[in-house]
Amino acid sequence: MAQHVSAAAAALLAMCALALDGCGEPQRGVDPQAAGAARDAREAITLSRTERDLVLGEMRLMLESTEGVVAGLAANDMQAIEQAAARSSPSAPGTVDQAMHGALPEAFLHSGAAAHGGFADIARLARDGAGAEAINARLSQTLHQCTSCHATYRVEVAD
Ligand code: HEC
Repeated sequence: MAQHVSAAAAALLAMCALALDGCGEPQRGVDPQAAGAARDAREAITLSRTERDLVLGEMRLMLESTEGVVAGLAANDMQAIEQAAARSSPSAPGTVDQAMHGALPEAFLHSGAAAHGGFADIARLARDGAGAEAINARLSQTLHQCTSCHATYRVEVAD
């Protein structure tokens, strides 16, 4: 029994050590917002409000395309997939990267172009009747562009 208790205490101590600030008194004098920012290690891209709105609008469009492609896959509707993906192709009117080249880091532009290129490929695969497996594979690569860029960058608005 005593051994169980000390094993449990040791485990708890180890958890405290891992959590660092998890077990002590709440820290005083720490601005919770500043603490949150310190934990968010993503690189900030500073944009004007208008530029930020353009980027986020483009993001929502890509999420809508993703929704349309997934729904099309579920319904085995190749035409719906092609249309949904074409809306986020590099040549689609909603894509704004070109207008903002100066404001965005090279790696960001590269990743954004890769995501749009993925949708262009998906539209072509659907048009050519390539089949759900090939489209799914391309979609998963395209979604990897989303998640890796989201893990790297955040947007800040310059006042
Ligand atoms: C080149 C980088 C990059 C790529 C690629 C990218 N995003 Fe984003 N996305 C961002 C950034 C930066 C934000 C803002 C995040 C923040 O400030 O916290 C964002 C925000 C968003 C938002 C929130 C929009 C809003 O109105 O707040 C959605 C939805 C989104 N992305 C969807 C996607 C999807 C879906 C894909 C892939 C098909 C994708 N993104 C690819 C960088 C990217």
